[in-house]
Amino acid sequence: MNEIQTELKSQLERFRKEKIEPTVEHDDKNEHFKMELFQELGQLGFCGMTLPEDHGGAGLTYQDLCVALGEIAKSSVSYAATISVSTMVQAIINEFGNDEQKKKYLPSLTSGEEIGAFCLSESSSGSDAASLKMTAKKVDGGYSLNGSKMWITSGGIAKTYIVMARTGEEGHKGISAFIVRDGMDGFSYGKKESKMGWKVSPTRELIFENCIVPEENLLKEEGYGFKIAMAALDRGRITIGSIAVGLCERAIDESISYSLERKQFKKEIFDFQGLQFMMADMATETEASRLLVEQAAKYYDEGKPNQKLASMAKMKSTDTAMKVSTDAVQILGGVGYTSEYPVERLMRDAKVLQILEGTNQIQRVVIARSLKKEYS
Ligand code: CAA
Repeated sequence: MNEIQTELKSQLERFRKEKIEPTVEHDDKNEHFKMELFQELGQLGFCGMTLPEDHGGAGLTYQDLCVALGEIAKSSVSYAATISVSTMVQAIINEFGNDEQKKKYLPSLTSGEEIGAFCLSESSSGSDAASLKMTAKKVDGGYSLNGSKMWITSGGIAKTYIVMARTGEEGHKGISAFIVRDGMDGFSYGKKESKMGWKVSPTRELIFENCIVPEENLLKEEGYGFKIAMAALDRGRITIGSIAVGLCERAIDESISYSLERKQFKKEIFDFQGLQFMMADMATETEASRLLVEQAAKYYDEGKPNQKLASMAKMKSTDTAMKVSTDAVQILGGVGYTSEYPVERLMRDAKVLQILEGTNQIQRVVIARSLKKEYS
């Protein structure tokens, strides 16, 4: 870790212990997202880390962002995920938006004053994203959006939504991306999902009924939406990986600390080889995941985005998070299954990491396609 990363990590460690930890269990139970806490992270520069300084960002690298998200995730996967998705929205506008769009939408996102949301999935198109049905029909001065989006992270609390909708033919070539703002006529929120984990981060359905979006809100050009979404997910998958690594590190901290304290059969349970092997595996798999995430981020920072590595990083680290958090609950035993210790929350929060931003089965599809290309 370089000097900047060491500093970011220690600043965030203090922040999460002082500001997140004291109420994290209560907020989880009450599904309470604290906008003021997100905004405080924004004031400290953590909500627009990778954006250039002239758009209010901190001009840092994806490797730095991964360190920061991992640290936040040790206390709250929900806040880390909110930042991760909002950063993905900023990256889309920065890469595919025109100067007007960047000036208009980026500052409030990079400062953390507002949150961004990414809207691709629909009830009938999850993994097969190119089959989405939501329409955007050309009308005088803009587009009329009709349809709905499902499982949208930060739905209802975000102000800027990147929405993929169909402007043309079937398949990926008919999809375009739009910037939609909270409060636009014809745009409303559907049901808030009741979830196993990520309870602080709201997940919601979005409904569009003749929602007129001005022409100037189209990103890049008609038909480019699927590529925008895929390119964004390549980055998002790396940052989701870093959140998984942070979650693993916390689960390991909890497991080792507990097993060094807890005595059974007159000795610390850490000294039983059965548990030692579990903890050795947890630490090794976590380290391997961290290195893979770091490598994927490094390629990205060096201007050589590597889709295969991003998928490998997401898949490996999130499968590891599920295994490590489940083992942590096992090591803590009865108390591990209660909310007295954070491991049960970590286990619940880990599950969706294997599902969102492309299920881990889809990551394997991406990896295999890339291998086929390399060998053909
Ligand atoms: N960057 C740029 N372009 C890309 C690309 C990338 N990473 N990946 C693919 N493309 C392009 C291809 O080159 C191709 O373009 P051409 O025809 O011009 O060559 C086009 O996109 C179509 O590519 P594919 O044929 O590979 O598309 P496909 O229909 O077979 O789908 C897939 C591929 C990998 C399965 C993709 O559909 C996918 O990733 N599915 C999962 C969707 C997903 O991750 N959803 C998560 C939603 S967000 C979320 O989880 C929650 C949240 O709030 C963030």
